[in-house]
This record gives sequence, structure tokens and C-alpha cells, in this order.
Amino acid sequence: MSFKGMDIVSIRDLSREQIDQVLDLAERMIPYAKGELFTKAMDGRILANLFFEPSTRTRMSFESAMLRLGGKTLEMSHPSMMSIAKGETLADTIRMVETYSDVIVLRHPHEGSARLAAKFSTKPVINAGDGAGQHPTQTLLDLFTIRRQFGRIDGIKVALVGDLKYGRTVHSLAEALTLFGAEVTFVAPPPLQMPRETVRQVEKMGGKPKLTSKLEEVIKEADVLYVTRIQKERFPDPAEYQKVAGCYRIDNTLLREAKGDLIVMHPLPRVDEIAPEVDGTRHAKYFEQAFNGVPVRMALLQLVLGGDQL
Ligand code: NCD
Repeated sequence: MSFKGMDIVSIRDLSREQIDQVLDLAERMIPYAKGELFTKAMDGRILANLFFEPSTRTRMSFESAMLRLGGKTLEMSHPSMMSIAKGETLADTIRMVETYSDVIVLRHPHEGSARLAAKFSTKPVINAGDGAGQHPTQTLLDLFTIRRQFGRIDGIKVALVGDLKYGRTVHSLAEALTLFGAEVTFVAPPPLQMPRETVRQVEKMGGKPKLTSKLEEVIKEADVLYVTRIQKERFPDPAEYQKVAGCYRIDNTLLREAKGDLIVMHPLPRVDEIAPEVDGTRHAKYFEQAFNGVPVRMALLQLVLGGDQL
């Protein structure tokens, strides 16, 4: 199935077969991502990274992915130094940047911004997070991490924990997990529960999501704890944030209740939701998960840009 020229705005843009294709190619990218093998598959191609919100992993792993493929990246300066500070619209910025590059990676605080950018760009646009909307490439690397760990996604019990309202990674992931037959439980304090639209979508896809606020109800059964940060910057009222800050904390005492092969995942950055003592245990998968962003994004770029065969 051809990906060439495709925008990746929402995880719904990809079929199950296409996701499998990305994950299969990502497996083959691992030695290149680690710098053990070299390729010039993207020689002469340029990726433009447009990040209007903070990022460490997503931006740098896209950059690393493009460089590992032998391509180059254009990095924008701080938003305050760009023409948007003079009142330029996102649409105009995109119209310019597409003439300087072959693919645009966009992170923006407004939901729907990536869809808008895709409309104005003839080059592929990859959504690297649009407000509380979607984060499809994070989902691909999350699926990759689970598949590598368990050899499958089907039937795996995944508890999504924390800020399910404002956290965009869990919106894309809940749908994709359902597509692959995983069983999802949404663990959040009531004000931060999964948006109704996502719950309905999961149900429409045949999933039977459980909703709870109690971690104790899921800890014994779960195969994956997918923990998220409370998205402080998206709370309209700081007092509301204070009420839920620090509501869950994963530590070794809690993990004593869990299955021996449970894995703890987190898109990172973490604040205080996973105690550092967990880092050294067999459960901790979040740093490996962050590395997986490189081979997965390499695979996606290769498919979207139609680079030379490896
Ligand atoms: C996440 C994001 O930006 O949505 N980070 C990431 O891309 N790995 C999660 C977060 O900010 O909490």
C-alpha cells in the first residue's frame, strides 16, 4: 500500500495494514537508528521541523531519524523570532516552508492546526501534536514498543493512566490499541477522564473500555501501565490543576502488586508520576520507548517520502 505523499494528521489516517507496514519497516531500521549501519536513502531531502510548543524527544528524534537516513533538517528559530510574531498566519508560514523542504513536521498548541497545515501544503505534513488533539507518531512508537515486548498487541491489557482529557498521546493511542484488539482501561480522576468522543470512537470500533479513577482496580491485571503527565499548560484555571496535581504516583510499592512482566510506559516528560526508583526495575520501558521514536520515524519518513530502498 503506497504512503507516498500522504499527510499523517490523525492515527485514523492509517489502516491497520499501513500501521503494520510502518512497524515492520521500523524493525529493519533499528541498526541504522543505532548507528551500526549507514544509509543515504534520503540523500538530498529536507525535513522542516516546525515546533510552536516545547519538545525534546519528538523534535530531536525526527531530526535524528532524518539525519540517520542521510537527509537534512531545517530547524525553525524560536517562535518569537519568526514572522508569526509579526502577525503572519500559520497558513502563510506553511506555504513558505513547503517551498524550502520536502516534508513538514508540525507541533502546534491548537487542535486542528495540523489538518489546516495539510490543507495548505502540497508536501506531506506530519502532526507532531496539535493541542489536546492527536499525536499519531507517538502512537506508532508506543505500538512498536508493546509489539516488541509481547510479540503482539491483540489481547494485551493496557491501562492508560493520568490526564486522559488533555493528553493527546492517549487519544491517538486508545483508538489504535482498539484497532489492534488490545483491551483498554482508562484510569483518571473524573475531571480528567477520556473525552466522550474518544470513548465513543473506541466503542464504535468494537472496544469495551473500562473507566475508573482507581489504580488499585487495574494494577493486578494490567500488562501495560501507560502513565501520562498532568498537562498543566492546558488547564484554563490553575486552581483546577492544583486539585489533581500528583494524583497518581507509580512506585516500587505499587508495582509489587503487578504482574512480573508488566511494563511501565510514559511518553515523557514525567514530572512526579513515576518515582525514579522504578527506572532500575525490569518494568521500566520509557527510555527504550523514547529511543523507539527514531526507527519508527525513520520508517514513516521512508514510506511518506518514498526514499531509496535500504
Ligand atoms: C508528549 C506530548 O508532547 O504530547 N510528549 C511527547 O511527545 N513525547 C507528552 C507530554 O507532553 O506530556
